[in-house]
Amino acid sequence: MSKQSATKPALTPAAAAVSTAVATPNDPLLDVFDRIGMTVTLGDGVTIEDSTGRRYVDFYGGHAVASLGYGHQRLLDALNGQAQRLFFQSNAVDLEVRTRAAARLVKLAPRGLTKVFFVNSGAEANENALRIAFLVTKRPKIVAVSGAFHGRTAAAAAITDHHETWYAFPRKPFDVTWVPFDDVAALRAAIDHDTAAVILEPVQGVAGARAVSKAFIHAARESATKTGALLILDEVQIGVCRSGQPFAADHYGVLPDVLTLAKGIAGGFPCGAVLVGDALAAQIKKGQLGTTFGGGPLACALVEATLLALEEDRVLERVRRVSKRIQETCVVGPVESIQGLGLLLGLRCTRPAKEVLAELRTRGILAGSSHDPRVVRLLPPLVIEEAQVEQLAAALKEISR
Ligand SMILES: Cc1ncc(COP(=O)(O)O)c(C=O)c1O
Repeated sequence: MSKQSATKPALTPAAAAVSTAVATPNDPLLDVFDRIGMTVTLGDGVTIEDSTGRRYVDFYGGHAVASLGYGHQRLLDALNGQAQRLFFQSNAVDLEVRTRAAARLVKLAPRGLTKVFFVNSGAEANENALRIAFLVTKRPKIVAVSGAFHGRTAAAAAITDHHETWYAFPRKPFDVTWVPFDDVAALRAAIDHDTAAVILEPVQGVAGARAVSKAFIHAARESATKTGALLILDEVQIGVCRSGQPFAADHYGVLPDVLTLAKGIAGGFPCGAVLVGDALAAQIKKGQLGTTFGGGPLACALVEATLLALEEDRVLERVRRVSKRIQETCVVGPVESIQGLGLLLGLRCTRPAKEVLAELRTRGILAGSSHDPRVVRLLPPLVIEEAQVEQLAAALKEISR
């Protein structure tokens, strides 16, 4: 399955130094990211290696993107095969691989979501979902949930919480009503006949892997149906098997009008998607949505290969099993509780997450941060195994409370 383990040097994590930050005054990259100080040179299975040769078990997954880890043969074959055949063509022409990828996605999706519009990223998926809502309802307002992260482009940023610190557009492009997280009464009150859509992440990733309650999501569905608003579920981070179900919508037993996806959908190749049902699709006219790169052959070959591999490798079962093991064994050391769903989990710590993350790195484990300063986020490749969970639990045990 993975390609290069035989050629890699074995390293004793505790003995190796953690590599330091790469930014220098001559760095040609705009210095806008909080970097963790590591140059990654190789990936193999669920392990990554830095430029000093030090290896890390990857509980971060390139931010929930590397859903099948690194070097999965099916993905390599799909990419190479498609690149040889046809590197790019736009949506002006039909592509068999695009149709196959969409059909596979529809097969996995909650029943009733039947049409796919491919884009390139999560923000773009959400922008198009909002556009659909405004187009079909002709209403001015979106209802969003505090703590939400939907992206950095203008419309997505307008419904992303905490954006004031970095969102520089002079005004919001539409009205937004914010609802406190999981507040059912406030949600019901906010969704009215001016509402084009209510948008929510079933599990808020950036906020620290916070899952909304079933009551909240069902209230959103009911109020949207009653008022003629759309329910948009943003499953950019939790979707495509990460929740332990094909989609979190399946876990909650709710059918959204629009489902947005990106991140792990193509195993690491840039791709996003918007899914809708037949009735909504019939109201979207030619020319109302568009993209140059979205639905390109390489991305679609990788969507197809990723979805096939998730099925063949029986990844859903594994996600449920490994998630359970994490919850059973990782409330140790500084971890006082675990929140989230499937393999999007937040380890709530007694100490600042930043310190715990640094300590984990010195023990050869990479994990993620979140907007919650006490939460270490786990968003690993979905092919992570119990053996790596044992390593994580052992490392956590060594870290003081
Ligand atoms: C739930 C959610 N929606 C949207 C986005 C934006 O995706 P992208 O960075 O691909 O634009 C993210 C990114 O982290 C996300 O977690």
